[in-house]
Amino acid sequence: MLSNSRSFAPALALTPPPRTQCRTRLSSITTVAALHGVRLAGCGSSVPQKALTNHDLEKLVETNDEWITSRTGIRKRHVLAEGEGIATHAAAAGAKALEMAAVSPDQVDLIILATSSPDDLFGSACATQAILGAKNAAAFDLTAACSGFVMALVTGSQFIKTGTYKNILVIGADALSRYVDWRDRSTCILFGDGCGAVLLTAQPDGTPCSLLGLQMKSDGNGQRHLNALFSDADQCKPLSEDGKASGQGSYCNIGMNGQEVFKFAVRAVPTVIQGALDDAGLDKSVIDWLVLHQANARILSAAADRLGVPMERVVANLSEYGNTSAASIPLALDEAVRRGDIKGGQVLGMAGFGAGLSWAGAIVRWG
Ligand code: ACO
Repeated sequence: MLSNSRSFAPALALTPPPRTQCRTRLSSITTVAALHGVRLAGCGSSVPQKALTNHDLEKLVETNDEWITSRTGIRKRHVLAEGEGIATHAAAAGAKALEMAAVSPDQVDLIILATSSPDDLFGSACATQAILGAKNAAAFDLTAACSGFVMALVTGSQFIKTGTYKNILVIGADALSRYVDWRDRSTCILFGDGCGAVLLTAQPDGTPCSLLGLQMKSDGNGQRHLNALFSDADQCKPLSEDGKASGQGSYCNIGMNGQEVFKFAVRAVPTVIQGALDDAGLDKSVIDWLVLHQANARILSAAADRLGVPMERVVANLSEYGNTSAASIPLALDEAVRRGDIKGGQVLGMAGFGAGLSWAGAIVRWG
């Protein structure tokens, strides 16, 4: 198994750092540097209007509402309409996060768009920047499937900690409906489209950092269990009429071994949350809310069970949206914040998992 988890084990710790402060590792010396605190200052979300219920899917494949609801917890998913793009929703989600944080678009320094399904192969972060009018922001895409939002949150935080940037929009946006085979009942019932965003801002020196702990993991050996391969792969090479490869790039539909992914997720989520808690030096009892990737209600409850977190402390909205990949965590977060469930100062355990295989956890303080 490949592993790229961060380690802050001090080789030569001068003074043990207070656990809630940002730390860095320079050469072999772990030190409390003059790092800036990160605050999660605003959130927002946007989803397409068009929705497909389980009953709608009964007309496409041999399935039924009872099977889908009992096996997954999903009742509905929103999907892009023809001609609708993901960047528009990403910008709308970002605009709401900025509004909540009372930060204007021209104050944004960086936009990180976590997505596996951009409108443009070269990325949709710049299009999002243009729609948002964030004229001073650099922008790039980050691809890590359903772990993308947590990995982008961690990536953005590094720019703030080092003092490089002050305001960073981290957006999770996906439209996996574009890659679903609508004839495959084992996958088409799961996925939906949507976007969610969080604004990270720099805190004055000495203010505790809201990113308390993190862990990121990858295992490329598991790629065979979940992927959407470039169509160069033999199984779906596009051929022109004369039988020759057309040279037109495209991707295969999502291929998934559901049972393997399920087993992986049930193991990975509690482990990566525990890893992030260990990194923060905190006990799981500090977690007020679990905000996990919304893939399957049974995965949420199994993970909560293993972590000893009661289900009423688990944010769940997948009955309405299905699995929106990189968008699912910020979308669930945004709804829970705007409902008033998640309050300023509360501690969240976040974990994303999925294709790669990849999985990532973060312990953060909201607001
Ligand atoms: N409707 C009715 N029957 C179905 C359907 C359906 N939509 N899909 C499968 N079945 C049937 C199967 O054919 C099988 O029939 P059989 O027993 O006659 O062979 C039976 O139901 C059981 O199938 P399983 O695959 O064993 O069902 P399971 O309980 O594992 O549920 C599911 C399948 C929902 C896909 C589950 O495995 C799962 O959620 N896995 C995790 C998937 C996931 O989270 N993927 C996304 C990761 S995130 C990312 O990075 C994109």
